[in-house]
Amino acid sequence: MPLLDAKEVSVRFGGHMALLDVTMSVEPGRITGLIGPNGAGKTTLFNVMTGLQDPVRGRVLMNGIDVTGSPPHERSQRGMARTFQRLELFGSLTAYENLQVAAEIKRMWGGGTSVPADERVESAIELIGMRPFVHKRADVLTTGQARLVELGRALVTRPKVLLLDEPASGLDADETEYFGTILKGLAKAGMGILIVEHDVPLVMKLCSQIFVLDFGQMIASGPPAAIQGNQRVIEAYLGAPAGSGA
Ligand SMILES: Nc1ncnc2c1ncn2[C@@H]1O[C@H](COP(=O)(O)OP(=O)(O)OP(=O)(O)O)[C@@H](O)[C@H]1O
Ligand SMILES: [Mg+2]
Repeated sequence: MPLLDAKEVSVRFGGHMALLDVTMSVEPGRITGLIGPNGAGKTTLFNVMTGLQDPVRGRVLMNGIDVTGSPPHERSQRGMARTFQRLELFGSLTAYENLQVAAEIKRMWGGGTSVPADERVESAIELIGMRPFVHKRADVLTTGQARLVELGRALVTRPKVLLLDEPASGLDADETEYFGTILKGLAKAGMGILIVEHDVPLVMKLCSQIFVLDFGQMIASGPPAAIQGNQRVIEAYLGAPAGSGA
């Protein structure tokens, strides 16, 4: 059973349908990709899944249980965590304190884990390799370090399903590679990961299943090879493959 399902989700902003009958799912132990042009509705779909945006139609299920209309903290209790497209760290706190705050909020919200907050913080720091900058203030970190802290804040909640909105944005090639290795390790350990990312080679490398949004509609889904060869996806987003002469 999928960890997370969106079923025929529609979102309206005024007269504009930001999402129209969108269906997708996130499986445990896999990295699932969500791609599409700017403004396609990817972040809006994240917001619907995490409870920040009410759909006008459709449902969100976690482990088959309908959570549509339930607030973000209830979804967190059921094991959902996310990161944000625009970094949302507390700039005047250290990297360590940013993780502590997230772990403490999770403790107050409850659910999911009996592991003490301090232990969750320490193991996230180890897992991500945050030790060298853990006592720096968040507002002096490089983008690469800040993106790792953002991931760490999600991981201290011990999520079963993790939603990442453009986690590689602003990272160089080495940082992107490192980030990908961490995500693969998390999936191998059973986590379901949904990644929105414009770094197409990264998505193709990491994901076993990819969904493609365009103008609020799901225009394709499938494994990387099928998506790369899908004419509609090429026209909407990927462009012609290098060397095709187009
Ligand atoms: N709160 C809002 N109020 C009104 N319109 C919105 C709101 N949030 C998003 N939109 C519009 O909905 C559409 C989808 O936006 P969304 O941010 O979900 O796209 P996206 O796929 O995440 O794009 P990007 O790749 O640039 O992050 C866009 O047309 C956007 O302008
Ligand atoms: Mg977005």
